[in-house]
Amino acid sequence: MPQKVMTNDDWAKLVDTSDEWITTRTGIKERHFAAEDQAVSDLVVEAAKRAFEDAKIDKDLIDLIIVGTVTGDNAFPSTGNLVQKKLDIKPIPSFDVSAACSGFLYGLIMADSFIKTGLAKYVLVAGAEIMSRVINWEDRSTCVLFGDGAGAAILNSNEGGEKRRGILSTYWGADGNLGELLKQPAGGSLMPACEETVAKKKHTVHMKGKEVFKYAVLMMQEAATKAIELADLTSEDIDLYIPHQANKRIIYATIRRAGISLEKTFINIDEIANVSAGTIPIALDQARKQGRLKPGDNLLMSAFGAGFTWGGLVVKM
Ligand code: ACO
Repeated sequence: MPQKVMTNDDWAKLVDTSDEWITTRTGIKERHFAAEDQAVSDLVVEAAKRAFEDAKIDKDLIDLIIVGTVTGDNAFPSTGNLVQKKLDIKPIPSFDVSAACSGFLYGLIMADSFIKTGLAKYVLVAGAEIMSRVINWEDRSTCVLFGDGAGAAILNSNEGGEKRRGILSTYWGADGNLGELLKQPAGGSLMPACEETVAKKKHTVHMKGKEVFKYAVLMMQEAATKAIELADLTSEDIDLYIPHQANKRIIYATIRRAGISLEKTFINIDEIANVSAGTIPIALDQARKQGRLKPGDNLLMSAFGAGFTWGGLVVKM
């Protein structure tokens, strides 16, 4: 997480909002914002270094880098390429996944599949965003929702290990018909950057909050339920659920529909807000450090994001 903390009261000094409104509607109390000289690749490099240390894996073993992000350093080269350079890793394939808040889970699903087909052995998967660079700082209905940060995980094959361990199931999807509900209209080939697009703040997040809320609950629950079914488990078998943290009310509605108890649900939105693709890997790290994941536990993760995209996984720890 970047060091700078921005509280709800800090936002209330900039836009017409209050700690009470933000807390009741979203569950968010504060978020971290990157320093001016930090880009997404810097956050990923820091997360990756800690992941190598934690996994006791030499970076030279890595043969694929996948970064889930929609706020990468540049349109190109990819942030994955920059991470490979900054970590001084040999010239291995590296790329970004543009699936908004589902970016990290999309990355895990791809890594799982590349490992299973023998195309990769050790994959660095990161999810990272600097949302503070793409929010409209004058739009109270969106600016207060997001934060910055990064997380990373290293996946490798389970050759010779216990059979039923690692990723037990994956489920993903996307529906471009819903893309209009949440988007950053300018900055691409459709609407390249120009004075007008900047003046009209078209390079920022545009969102129809109520509609997004409705679909978010449906998709997060569907992804969770399907991942559980595909793993031949029931919701009772899940030891910890890490949902994407977009809004506390979305999480409550999702677990009610999916039959998962609040005690088994990891929630950190109050302190980090919505970090898009960075949310789930950051939560995963915090959950492990808090002792909420033990060997043998069934971990469920599910996310939805702009696109719309969604994904769900069950992992046997
Ligand atoms: N502070 C004070 N008032 C506000 C704020 C604010 N920050 N934002 C909006 N309001 C006002 C609105 O202007 C509106 O006022 P009005 O009634 O006078 O017009 C009133 O509060 C109610 O606004 P609603 O939009 O009805 O509020 P709602 O209860 O729907 O909550 C919210 C809004 C929090 C955005 C909710 O719809 C939501 O969480 N949606 C999902 C958003 C989301 O998850 N996005 C990201 C997901 S995907 C991704 O991360 C890439």
